[in-house]
Amino acid sequence: MAKVAALTITLLGLLVSVTCQGSIYSAQQQQDASSSSSSPGCILRGWIPFLHPCRDGQPPTPNPLPPPSGAGLTVGYYKNCPGAEGIVRKAVEKAMDNGNRGIGAGLIRIFFHDCFVRGCDASVLLRNTSGSSDQTEMFGLPNINSLRGFQVINDAKAELEKACPRTVSCADIVAFAARDATRNLSYGAIDFQMPAGRLDGRVSLKEEAEKNLPGPFDSLDDLQKSFAAQGLGFNDMVTLSGAHSIGVARCRFFTNRLPPNPSDMDRDLARSLKATCDQNGLDSKVVQDPVTPVALDNQYYKNVHNGKVLFTSDAALNSTDDARKVVDGFANNAVDWYRAFADAMVKMGNIRDRTINRPKPEIREKCFIYNTY
Ligand code: HEM
Ligand SMILES: *[C@@H]1O[C@H](CO)[C@@H](O)[C@H](O)[C@H]1NC(C)=O
Ligand SMILES: *[C@@H]1O[C@H](CO)[C@@H](O)[C@H](O)[C@H]1NC(C)=O
Ligand SMILES: *[C@@H]1O[C@H](CO)[C@@H](O)[C@H](O)[C@H]1NC(C)=O
Repeated sequence: MAKVAALTITLLGLLVSVTCQGSIYSAQQQQDASSSSSSPGCILRGWIPFLHPCRDGQPPTPNPLPPPSGAGLTVGYYKNCPGAEGIVRKAVEKAMDNGNRGIGAGLIRIFFHDCFVRGCDASVLLRNTSGSSDQTEMFGLPNINSLRGFQVINDAKAELEKACPRTVSCADIVAFAARDATRNLSYGAIDFQMPAGRLDGRVSLKEEAEKNLPGPFDSLDDLQKSFAAQGLGFNDMVTLSGAHSIGVARCRFFTNRLPPNPSDMDRDLARSLKATCDQNGLDSKVVQDPVTPVALDNQYYKNVHNGKVLFTSDAALNSTDDARKVVDGFANNAVDWYRAFADAMVKMGNIRDRTINRPKPEIREKCFIYNTY
């Protein structure tokens, strides 16, 4: 438990304010609203801890889709640039050296946040979208002041442009980097091949990140719907959530589960987190897995069972018999989860942009800006 406090990092940075249909909610107001959880019409959902005029209690997602097929993607795709995957791995390992293993957690999360918005097309890396800056996915609530590892992708891209100009897409770099980070953080236990052949999109909109990505205040039903909207199933959702056995999270996303609010969180953990968050503030960070914080392992599932997870959305995995069955299965068999996680990462990597009339995708020259020639 001492680890939680010891590993707290204080975030510099802006207070995130949520602008929505003309109303602006400051972070403080959000916090006030979340602690008075009994106010009328107030629900916890998505990325915002209270009923929000924009969301209006609607489920966050449209219709379920069939599973992504992965058509067009192949293992060993870059035969014309044989060093490509090695160059990415080197960039990832270089970044994770210097004691910064957390960057690996960031890279796994970038992949997830990319794939859930317009498919795995590196839209999450864009700083500009047509005609504006600061309005892209990376500025949305799930990403701003949070996603880390962009520099690793940009560095890998710079090396790849030297070795094989205009050949390797940023979307594939993101996928390879997530695979490499997974392998490293699991100490080699989750080692798999990542199909490639993705192209980079030219559009990135922060509202889409906020709408498509599941949030920490989601219920099991919300979570299932947001994965179904990507063609991913219930088991994929439970399997991929195991990524919360690494990395860090800000207090603002789980104070709704700390004293004096009722919750099923382990009492010692809740008390320790409460002290840390009170002392260091809503933007301070704690490790997600208080037991094995830097190992990507099946500890997450034991934590779900034992009340040692942070978010409403994590705890939701213990809220029905169906979910509990999968959770307990993974808690009791690490190898099952390693295999399932590898498969689910590949499946998530198959999500494609289904937007009609989108600008023709491309292979970007720089990952943070679409090609301008
Ligand atoms: C099931 C729904 C999910 C929800 C609601 C969710 C929510 C969150 C939240 C709120 C944070 C903390 C962000 C912050 O404090 O700034 C976080 C961190 C993280 N999430 Fe998720 N997540 C989900 C699924 C996933 C999936 C599918 C993956 C990857 C396969 C993933 C990987 C991570 C990682 C690695 C971190 C730590 C990042 C870091 O340390 O930089 N999450 N997640
Ligand atoms: C993970 O990366 C670190 C830093 O580069 C390296 O020292 C370590 O050997 C790697 N571990 C595995 C299992 O690849
Ligand atoms: C990026 O956005 C800025 C600010 O809107 C704009 O001045 C610049 O021209 C944009 N760059 C491109 C390549 O679109
Ligand atoms: C998870 O569900 C099981 C079965 O209902 C229960 O025994 C256990 O206490 C629950 N865990 C938490 C943290 O609520």
